[in-house]
Amino acid sequence: MPLNHQIHLDNRPVGEALASNFKLVVSETPALQDGEVLVRHHFLSLDPYMRGRMNDAKNYAQPQPLGQTMIGGTAGEVVASSHDKFAVGDTVVGMGGWQQYSVVDANQVGALRKVDTTHVPLSAYLGAVGMPGVTAWYGLVKIIEPQAGQTMVVSAATGAVGSAFAALSKARGCRTVGIAGGPDKCRYAVEELGFDACIDYKTHADAASLSKALREACPQGIDGYFENVGGMVLDAVLSRMNAFGRIAVCGMIAGYNGAPVPMAYPSLILTNRLKVQGFIVSEHMEVWPAALKELGALVAGGQLRARESIAQGIEAAPEAFLGLLKGKNFGKQLVRLID
Ligand SMILES: NC(=O)c1ccc[n+]([C@@H]2O[C@H](COP(=O)([O-])OP(=O)(O)OC[C@H]3O[C@@H](n4cnc5c(N)ncnc54)[C@H](OP(=O)(O)O)[C@@H]3O)[C@@H](O)[C@H]2O)c1
Repeated sequence: MPLNHQIHLDNRPVGEALASNFKLVVSETPALQDGEVLVRHHFLSLDPYMRGRMNDAKNYAQPQPLGQTMIGGTAGEVVASSHDKFAVGDTVVGMGGWQQYSVVDANQVGALRKVDTTHVPLSAYLGAVGMPGVTAWYGLVKIIEPQAGQTMVVSAATGAVGSAFAALSKARGCRTVGIAGGPDKCRYAVEELGFDACIDYKTHADAASLSKALREACPQGIDGYFENVGGMVLDAVLSRMNAFGRIAVCGMIAGYNGAPVPMAYPSLILTNRLKVQGFIVSEHMEVWPAALKELGALVAGGQLRARESIAQGIEAAPEAFLGLLKGKNFGKQLVRLID
């Protein structure tokens, strides 16, 4: 059995997460038991939710235990199998973690899913046709409930979730406006992702200035907002929401290191009769098949061309993850684990 390089959570962050919170460990892959499958990971997905798991705090999910391989989605191939439904060479996705190989009990429902790479590249199953894509789908379709002609806004617009949101929103005939950090991301949002406009929040010193830019980009006001960051961006969007608008609260990445992200004018929720709803995508498994079908078709048909930021080798995972929390990624952040 092959040697396996893994990244463990060694200690918990105090404030900002650091590379020293992680530790590289080399271990031997155990021999397969009946029903088990050995997967060689080609790609590891790095996602903002992992930051929350690093804390030992009350959350919707259990904290990542210390001294164990970091949790994470993976895509790869079966290289040995003691399960009759999985054969060597099958391409699969699962939650293999920050490591090169995983031994999976394939009898566990949902532990390993075979995927077809004929029209959709393997890595896309961790992004646009995976958890981030379904996240965009759930927030848009089930919470925002868009109608053709309405205006939708999403923050972290060029990321894994934001880019899928653009394709889904445009497919429903909505004016779709992004908010992202930097001119390159904004140009890409309009030229490649199909956004009607994109605002670079980094050029605005405060919510009032960003709100002015939103008024120009959204002349009919905002009917649906998909919230990924919080703070100043949320304040600015709230000031432009139409009556009976809907806000899907997906993420608040501006506060993931523990800094408070207060809302300046929560009374706007009342005066504009807004619906504001948080959600966790893994609690809505019933929508995954329909969402993945639409997302797969958008990727295969070229309407969703999501960009990827790919770090090379398991050793690169901690730095790539810390970069994601600072907006250094441009598109879905992955780590390639094969040469
Ligand atoms: N609720 C759920 O079930 C669920 C599931 C998946 C993801 N999420 C959430 O969805 C959001 C997007 O996730 P993703 O995987 O698509 O990540 P991503 O957008 O690919 O990457 C994160 C992006 O967040 C932005 N960002 C980072 N720090 C920021 C800050 N301090 N202020 C403002 N923006 C900041 C950066 O973009 P810019 O350079 O453009 O600022 C960065 O590229 C995250 O909040 C995540 O937690 C929630």
